[in-house]
Amino acid sequence: MHLKDKINLQKLPKHVAIIMDGNGRWAKQQGKHRVFGHQNGVQSVREVTEAGAELGIQYMTLYAFSTENWNRPKLEVMALMKLLVHTIRKEVKTLNKNSIRLQAVGNLKLLPKDAYKELQEAIEATKDNTRMTLVLALSYSSKWEIIEAVKKIAREAKDGSIEIEDIDETMFSAALSPDNIPDPELMIRTSGETRISNFLLWQLAYAELYFSPVFWPDFRKDNFYQAIYDYQNRERRFGKTSEQILDGESQ
Ligand code: FPP
Repeated sequence: MHLKDKINLQKLPKHVAIIMDGNGRWAKQQGKHRVFGHQNGVQSVREVTEAGAELGIQYMTLYAFSTENWNRPKLEVMALMKLLVHTIRKEVKTLNKNSIRLQAVGNLKLLPKDAYKELQEAIEATKDNTRMTLVLALSYSSKWEIIEAVKKIAREAKDGSIEIEDIDETMFSAALSPDNIPDPELMIRTSGETRISNFLLWQLAYAELYFSPVFWPDFRKDNFYQAIYDYQNRERRFGKTSEQILDGESQ
């Protein structure tokens, strides 16, 4: 039986978040420049997006560029931005054909003008698609995002449109993700690193974490299916006991 057929389509995570890691090491292993790794990582983005949409995953968030990544050598940052503009431009048609909506999170004002423009145009061109939402985390840091949400709520409290006592998890989640995107149930990180690295710190509170030793440019559909299959065979307890979970299932 193929791995894909072992996946229970009734028990899919709604939202999968991915830290695409290991492009640089993958390239270095072959005596190539780091940028070569990023270029090859684009094929993995395509495959995983396709695999997710085919299965019926509703939301996928890809960590494409962190706030900290701005500190990389200028040449690498420029190459990554160029790759981003080029890829988005090239893939809009495919996104529309497959009814995939593009979204972005992060401090997008820091992006070069052409990258920002290309991204906004792609978001606009795909906004009515309904099969899956692909969120690119760009110039993103979770601590930054949390502080932005705190500022928004503080402003509303100051101008009297909300009461401090009304601030709760729901309000805070909505301030973080104005589009009402549900929290990821599964977070995948490639390349063998076992850190969260300032990614979706609030939203991952109850997520299952899956660490793959495979470098991102080698990550293919089957690796993705494996992660989903592994997730489906875990018991998600949310602080309850095993017995409570099993009782709940049999009711
Ligand atoms: C991490 O590998 C990867 C990145 C910082 C960039 C990811 C970008 C892509 C896959 C290409 C473009 C993506 C889109 C969505 C168009 P690393 O450089 O940190 O690798 P290392 O840990 O081995 O150094």
